[in-house]
This record gives sequence, structure tokens and C-alpha cells, in this order.
Amino acid sequence: MRLDRIQVTHYRNIPQALLEPKDQLTVLWGENGQGKTNLLESIWLLTGGKSFRGSKDQELILRGESFGVIEASFNAQGRDQQLRLTIGGKESPRPGRRAVLNGVDRGRAASVAGIFTAVVFCPEHLRLVKGSPEGRRKFLDVALCQLYPGYLATLRRYTRTMTQKNALLKQYEITPDAGNLLDVFNRSLAQWGEELTLRRMEYLDQLRMVAGANYRDLSGGRENLEIQYLPSFRPGKLYETMTGLRDRELGARCSLAGPHREDMEFILSGQPAKVYASQGQQRSAVLALKLGEAAMAAKVTGEHPVMLLDDVLSELDEGRQSYLLTRMEEKQTFVTTCDPSAFSRTQGALFLVEQGRIREA
Ligand SMILES: Nc1ncnc2c1ncn2[C@@H]1O[C@H](COP(=O)(O)OP(=O)(O)OP(=O)(O)O)[C@@H](O)[C@H]1O
Ligand SMILES: [Mg+2]
Repeated sequence: MRLDRIQVTHYRNIPQALLEPKDQLTVLWGENGQGKTNLLESIWLLTGGKSFRGSKDQELILRGESFGVIEASFNAQGRDQQLRLTIGGKESPRPGRRAVLNGVDRGRAASVAGIFTAVVFCPEHLRLVKGSPEGRRKFLDVALCQLYPGYLATLRRYTRTMTQKNALLKQYEITPDAGNLLDVFNRSLAQWGEELTLRRMEYLDQLRMVAGANYRDLSGGRENLEIQYLPSFRPGKLYETMTGLRDRELGARCSLAGPHREDMEFILSGQPAKVYASQGQQRSAVLALKLGEAAMAAKVTGEHPVMLLDDVLSELDEGRQSYLLTRMEEKQTFVTTCDPSAFSRTQGALFLVEQGRIREA
């Protein structure tokens, strides 16, 4: 995967910007609030995914304008491709995020998912270690959706049926034939739930090795990272588990077993990271995981995703910074920073971002 050119118009605080990155490292440097993360986010949107800051479409458009455009040329799947993304406000003639790929209107931006691939690290991701299980499940689901198109369809079916089952549990006493209906839901949920958990476990089996190796190198061999999946049922036994939980589910009025109740745990040198990890260790663990996610994608799709690293070096000691700087030069990587001095040791191209404008420094 290689981004050759991106032109951004009326996006966040960027009236207009053009970036023609090199094959390896591009450093976006500037003071706080100048538009570095905005630029990184515009590259991420080429993946067809949602904003990694969870923003609504309207918030992505330069205030006072009704339309934003991101146009990019990149090499993917062995050929040069062009993608034009438009972001329209509610009142505009083309509302929402829409995509034109190689001149063909593809409708919603999400339909181009899997064409331009990227892995993003931003400070919000630090919550992966100490935050709620939901964030960790989402990490796995997002990665798996990108790798296996069928995963998203199964996840949607599972989630929809789960909502129906929970509604039934809330009105169980007043629903005719509730027992049979619950059984129908459980059978479907068991089938899809087994599929989702199996995929997650298979993925994690490999990711754990790659991320573990990354963490060892990042910490100069001093610490190690283990990742464990915490399933809510034994393989092949989800239906039985749900049936066994029937009374408890009726008491709780919600479904108590299946992929939506599962989690993964990070263990740093034998201690649960959730409780004991320091700031730098949390950051290292998430970075090891993100680098692992990219390597896994490269293995499955044959193409290494573009790396987008927002404010990545802070809180890391000299040794960890050096290791990351080396890794950054291996694949096409975009980083943001307020302090370019660490990057002077690299071959990276330096761009200055100032009040939503960008120029080579
Ligand atoms: N829709 C919008 N229209 C205009 N300005 C916006 C819009 N959305 C965000 N901004 C502004 O963009 C500015 C730059 O944001 P950004 O997050 O890119 O800064 P940054 O350079 O990454 O700074 P930091 O170093 O603090 O992370 C913010 O001050 C924000 O108010
Ligand atoms: Mg920023």
C-alpha cells in the first residue's frame, strides 16, 4: 500500500492542502491545534472507515462551508488508483460521506472499505489497556471486519438478534410462546456467536506472537507482553451455555454468554496490565498491538497497510523511541509531532502544519 498524493479541501481547519509523501516516513510537525491530527484523519478516511475520533460528518467540514473533499492517488493491489471522497452537510446536494473510486461512483464511503488500508494509533487508543472490555472487543472486530468480509455480516446478524433476544427477556412473561421464541434466538445466536469467537481466537493466536515479539523489541528485551482471550463458553458449547443460563438471563433481563460478553487481557511481565501498567508501558503495549495488527493484515492481504501514528513518541524513553523510529522507516508511515528533533535521526520528509496549511520544512 502506498499513498502518492492527497489533496484536502474544506476539511476541519484545512481550507486546502496538498501532500505528496515519500515511500517511507512523513513527519507532520507543528504547534498545538494547527491541523496535524486533522490531516492524519483525512488519510484514515480513505479506508472508508469512520473518523477515529468518532466525529459526525458535519464536524469534519470546515466551519462555514457545506462541503469537504478528500482526493487521493495511491497504489493498492498492484495498481494505481484514485479515490475521491466527499463529505456533505445535511443541506448539501450530496449529504454524508460518498466515494468515487477510479471514476466510478460507489455511493457510501463505507463501500470502498478494504481498498485503501491503514492502521491508526492515536492517544485515545491507550484506553485499550485500562478501559472497558467494549473497546477491546471493538479493536478485534474492526481488525477482523477489514480482513474477512463475512465477519461484518455475521456480527450484524448476531447483534440484531441479540437486541431482539434482550427485548424478549424484558417482556418474557407477557409474550406468547416466549419459551420457543427464546430457543429460536439462542440457536441462531449460538451459531453466529461460535463463528465470531472462533475467528477472534484464531486471530489472537497469531497476533499474540507478533505483538509479543514487538513488545520484547520495544522494551529492549526487558519486558514481555502476553495476550489472553477470555471466552464466555467452551468451543461448540455456546447453545448449551445459554440454555444453562436461562434463569439467570431472565433475572438479569439480558443475554449473558457469547462474544458480546468476552474480553482479552494484557499481561506485562506476569502482571495484569489493566491494573499495573505505567503510562509508557500502556503506550508500548498498544503500539506493539497496532504494529502487530498491521503485520497480520499484510499476511492476510499481501499488502502492508499505511501506518498513521498520532503523537506517538511522547512518554517513551530513548530506547523505545529509537526502536519505533527504526520501525517507522520500514513501511510508509505518517507521524505527527510538536517536536521534530527526534526525527532528525531519520530520513523522514518533514512538513510544517500551520493554521491548517502545510508546507515542506
Ligand atoms: N470543522 C472544523 N472547522 C474548523 N476548524 C476545526 C473543525 N474541526 C476541528 N477544527 C479545529 O482544528 C484545529 C486543529 O486540530 P488538530 O487536532 O488537527 O490539531 P493538532 O495540530 O493535531 O494539535 P495537537 O498538537 O494539539 O494535537 C483545532 O483547533 C480545532 O478547533
Ligand atoms: Mg493532534
